[in-house]
Amino acid sequence: MKIPPHSTARLAKLVCASFMMLSALLFPLHAADKVMMKKSGGKQVSYYKDIRPVFQAKCQGCHQPAKAKGDYVMTDVAKLIAGGESDQAVIPHQPQQSFLIEQVTPVKGEVEMPPKGKEDPLTKDELKLVTDWIKQGAKDDTPVNAREVYDMNHPPKYAVPPVVTSLDYSPDGKLLAVAGFHEVLLHKADGSGLVVRLVGLSERIESVRFSPDGKLLAVTGGLPARMGEVQIWDVAKKKLKQSVPVGFDTLYGGSWSPDGKTVALA
Ligand code: HEC
Repeated sequence: MKIPPHSTARLAKLVCASFMMLSALLFPLHAADKVMMKKSGGKQVSYYKDIRPVFQAKCQGCHQPAKAKGDYVMTDVAKLIAGGESDQAVIPHQPQQSFLIEQVTPVKGEVEMPPKGKEDPLTKDELKLVTDWIKQGAKDDTPVNAREVYDMNHPPKYAVPPVVTSLDYSPDGKLLAVAGFHEVLLHKADGSGLVVRLVGLSERIESVRFSPDGKLLAVTGGLPARMGEVQIWDVAKKKLKQSVPVGFDTLYGGSWSPDGKTVALA
């Protein structure tokens, strides 16, 4: 189709006007973005996408409701900010005044947290991300459905019985471990009642296995598409002995070596 010359000019004017309107609309946003980028050293940091996976892998094994070393829980941002038995751990907008940053920053090549030999220290990039996140206000962008709401004091409530993915009798035949949602239920094997509900971080429990001597219970599971975890519970004390985050998807199975010293994971 041939376009008459005058209409081309009109079209050009129109395009030009719309472009000006569009850039006028976009400009304030653009300017605000620039200021934010300058402040953060170039990137808007997301707690959920950038920070949580780091803390999950390197900190939450020892800092979660069922096992809160130093009385410090890092699976919930409000608690992560509030701190444990010492002072407030994070002061939003002030990384250099934040106890958490002090704990993870190397001094003569050594960090306080994670404790030496237990977990790898934060890498330089991870430390920068955490610092930038605090600088930008330590905001919590965790989706509502991904918040940790259950712990030993707030066990899940069931509307319908959950699918039982795994069962195991203790070697002496006195206890029956039953996988639930976010927890393992220890029942008396004769059916006379519940002994304890062991509530941990993983919402999906895939396998429960007593150690050969019956003293420990290995639980594998995770948060689908977010993390895998193996939990080791002390059966007599009814306490979480160890939580080891593994990878970023659910772990399906665990099996004890006959000497009860290692657990093979799948
Ligand atoms: C192997 C277990 C373990 C891991 C992993 C671990 N911590 Fe700790 N954390 C502890 C223990 C034990 C304490 C309390 C005693 C102490 O301060 O040494 C503690 C205390 C703290 C405290 C002080 C809490 C308070 O108010 O007194 C902070 C902050 C902290 N940890 C941050 C972290 C961060 C951040 C990570 C991950 C980068 C991490 N921890 C990983 C065991 C661990």
